[in-house]
Amino acid sequence: PVIYGITPTYSRLAQKADLTRLSQTLMHVKNFHWVVIEDSTEKTKLVANLLKESNLKYTHLNIKTHRTKHSTVMDINICLFKTSLYNTSWYCASGVEQRNLALDWLKGYLQKSEDTRGVVYFMDDDNTYSLKVFDEMRKVKKVGVWPVGIVGGMRVEMPLVSDGKVSGFNAWWKPFRPFPIDMAGFAINATLFLEHPEAKFSRKVQSGFQESEILKYFATKEDLEPLADNCTKVYVWHTRTQKPSILNPKKLKRPIIPDDHIEV
Ligand code: UGA
Ligand code: MN
Repeated sequence: PVIYGITPTYSRLAQKADLTRLSQTLMHVKNFHWVVIEDSTEKTKLVANLLKESNLKYTHLNIKTHRTKHSTVMDINICLFKTSLYNTSWYCASGVEQRNLALDWLKGYLQKSEDTRGVVYFMDDDNTYSLKVFDEMRKVKKVGVWPVGIVGGMRVEMPLVSDGKVSGFNAWWKPFRPFPIDMAGFAINATLFLEHPEAKFSRKVQSGFQESEILKYFATKEDLEPLADNCTKVYVWHTRTQKPSILNPKKLKRPIIPDDHIEV
């Protein structure tokens, strides 16, 4: 089956570094179709060129997240007050509109295809992916799950398996989530999106609930297919790129040569 990797991305200093690392991982994956959705009103040259030069099979889309600080459920685009592991702040779900646009594209694409076999994997642009995770997801019948390293305050968040079935989850952060799994810890049979065209992400859920939001359309805990050696191996890590701090040229006593013309 084709793997459809769905990656929202947004403009920031480390974006090209993150996308370079990810695209060069993906160059080693057979039968892969990368759906990259920019969180922007226009597609950028940076992303367009990176995709073109990658020689990957890809689809380039864009849609801008609308951010307003209201917590009334009547709002279409909302940010909620968030209590994370470390602090409280406004939580504006990231990647929601982008992933939903990708799913709309996918449904249209599959309807025109003779072969609708495939697997959908939601990939953050700054995670670290072993090639082994792609081998695992090709085994998915409906929904496959596996551990994710370095996430939720844990060394590894993972489904617990007994007799080849998921019996629970080892998760410390919001263990009351219907599916306490990170986005990187599951893949869904692509054909199922044609059977459930209503399946999409929602901004009206608190942080950490996006995964449960999409999974609920396709599976109960009992349906989940444990992969990666019965969920004992880590093949993906929820790494996060540190926000770089750079000098502000205007505030420097010694001037530096302008470098604005260089794409970083
Ligand atoms: C965690 C999960 O792993 C994400 O899948 C989930 O979308 C996110 O939380 C959330 O619930 O908001 P985290 O590392 O905190 O991930 O989030 P990011 O990696 O910053 O963002 C997830 C994806 O959305 C990335 O591919 C990023 O490029 C993209 N993004 C982020 C945007 O498109 N726009 C933004 O403003 C921020
Ligand atoms: Mn991330």
